[in-house]
Amino acid sequence: MNSVRPVSPDRLPELLRAMPKAELHIHIEGSLEPELIFALAKRNGMALPYANVEKLREAYAFTNLQSFLDIYYAGASVLITEQDFYDMTRAYLERAAQDNVIHAEIFFDPQTHTARGVSMETVIKGLHRACVDAQAELGISAALILCFLRHLSEEEAFETLEQALPWRDLIIGVGLDSGEVGNPPEKFARVFARCRELGLHLVAHAGEEGPPAYIWTALDLLKVERIDHGVQSAKDPALMQRLAKDRIALTVCPLSNLKLCVFPDLARHNLRQLLDAGLAATVNSDDPAYFGGYMNDNFTQTFAATGMDAQHAWTLARNSFEASFANAATRRGHMERLTACFETFR
Ligand code: ADE
Ligand code: ZN
Repeated sequence: MNSVRPVSPDRLPELLRAMPKAELHIHIEGSLEPELIFALAKRNGMALPYANVEKLREAYAFTNLQSFLDIYYAGASVLITEQDFYDMTRAYLERAAQDNVIHAEIFFDPQTHTARGVSMETVIKGLHRACVDAQAELGISAALILCFLRHLSEEEAFETLEQALPWRDLIIGVGLDSGEVGNPPEKFARVFARCRELGLHLVAHAGEEGPPAYIWTALDLLKVERIDHGVQSAKDPALMQRLAKDRIALTVCPLSNLKLCVFPDLARHNLRQLLDAGLAATVNSDDPAYFGGYMNDNFTQTFAATGMDAQHAWTLARNSFEASFANAATRRGHMERLTACFETFR
């Protein structure tokens, strides 16, 4: 089913919320709600530089990526024990399941934690246990992608990879995140080559704030399979053609782009332009606790602002399953659930 029956505009939000979908771009530390930050700080006997949850939320007024990252890394400092990592991940997966996310590929930033003396074992075991329990108890499948912080060195990335190797089987891939401009993908070409030899899937943030050149080098030097964000590709027609031809998925995060001032408003977001040009774009939440919305908020607000329709909804959900790293049989099952959902919306 590649062309879908029209759905009346008043029923479109219902369809967007009900349709099964995969989330491929979620930083688990970015799902830490202020209430959980305060609860974990209390449990771990830590003081926070904010009087209460409301004061912390008031600080979430960002002007660009770096202004967000400063507060995001500070928020993550309340994570100490394996149970903390479990509770954070469990809370995200419960919230995602409410939005009919049936598969999630979750980024984590181990260097944010190992730099504070929290072991790689603590981080990965807590995240993994939550993923296993969520499959059994919520029916949502989840996998982990270890991200290297690009503002740190290649040497530190190699050390991080070394520390993760005992748990190689608990991660499906690696990514690259943190401050983009001035930290081009090529800085990590050798680490990514090693990860490729290890059979890990490869993704990287590129073209969030950085130039199209970073997307080219993520593809050609890092050999990534998906581009996280990638919205700056619209500035380079040859790159758009390459991404469309090779079916390289873009994990686009509209509310993130809005909150970090990548676009002045959602009506001017280029998701629709990317899709209409034949790129394999997907919708994702990035750091939902900080950007004011989980998956369905991203879908409903972006559709309302850009006038996309049921055909776009189908394409976005299909792209999310096709671009996932789930095995072929699982992806076929996901597509069957998507088809069944659309058949109920006549
Ligand atoms: N880490 C968490 N969110 C991020 C984003 N939007 N870009 C880069 N690094 C991040
Ligand atoms: Zn991101």
